[in-house]
Amino acid sequence: MSASITCFANIKGGVGKTTLTINVAHTLAEELQQRVLVVDMDPQINATTALLPYAETEKIRRECGSVYGFFSKVDNLRAMDPNLLQPRPVKAVPTGKGFDLILGSLDTAFLELRLPGEVPGLNINGLKNGLQTGGFLDQYDHILIDTPPTPSFYLVASLKAASHFAIPTRFDHLSIQGAGLLGRVYQTLRDHRDYAITAKPLGVILTLMQNDAQTTQGREILEEIRNRADHGDDFFHLFEGSLPLCAAIGRAQIEHRLIRELPPRGPVKKAQTELLRITSELSRRLRGSAPVTA
Ligand SMILES: Nc1ncnc2c1ncn2[C@@H]1O[C@H](COP(=O)(O)OP(=O)(O)OP(=O)(O)O)[C@@H](O)[C@H]1O
Ligand SMILES: [Mg+2]
Repeated sequence: MSASITCFANIKGGVGKTTLTINVAHTLAEELQQRVLVVDMDPQINATTALLPYAETEKIRRECGSVYGFFSKVDNLRAMDPNLLQPRPVKAVPTGKGFDLILGSLDTAFLELRLPGEVPGLNINGLKNGLQTGGFLDQYDHILIDTPPTPSFYLVASLKAASHFAIPTRFDHLSIQGAGLLGRVYQTLRDHRDYAITAKPLGVILTLMQNDAQTTQGREILEEIRNRADHGDDFFHLFEGSLPLCAAIGRAQIEHRLIRELPPRGPVKKAQTELLRITSELSRRLRGSAPVTA
């Protein structure tokens, strides 16, 4: 069976997209015995940095390439500009955590900075085609894509490749607004004949939760999300599980440790329970929602 391809997106920074991508990947692999690949489509390369020792990243990138290879299929890139790297074949790298990673890269940004049309290799379908032709769809059950918070080439290329997308959202008005902006991007791309994305929304996953749901403002936010979901909008369909704010998660990420690898005590235990709920729910929603065919 072909892999599901889910991207985690929100047009708001710092809402837990990367944290959820890599930890849901870990849980799918270790808890649900799924074959999982993470694709780092964010030029900030936070997923790559969280999963691999930084000192070794360049060496691994030389051997295994990065997402850059999906977008730079031009033989004479160096002749066009000596600063542009020649693409390498893209290989998935084992992270040692039960799932694989296709490295992120800043180099695609240098391609993007060229004038439109100047570099024919920069193809918005590069990721979609690369995952298909590279055999990745057959090798994995789930492919999870980490995306940047901007309505950029990387986000559009990710949505074009995806069968589904989930929306990590902090529990504040600006993050909900970011989800709303993503909704507008989604509708525009879905209805535009040149883009015609077919990815289906899986819903909103609340992250970095404190006890804010109990406050008056919190209740208003929750009400706003639920109202939108009640009106038949799958986009805002709220996940029951939510990831709590837990300082140990941020600290552990710097040491390449994921939530499931932390000693299960206090707030960490709660985060582990919620992560499993989120992952199981994601898995159920994926099964219950076949991608729209064009
Ligand atoms: N549940 C949590 N508890 C504590 N810290 C967290 C939690 N989730 C994420 N963080 C921390 O919050 C910061 C932002 O999270 P993350 O990088 O996952 O967000 P993002 O949406 O991917 O950001 P960006 O838009 O910059 O890519 C990171 O430093 C991360 O370690
Ligand atoms: Mg990120």
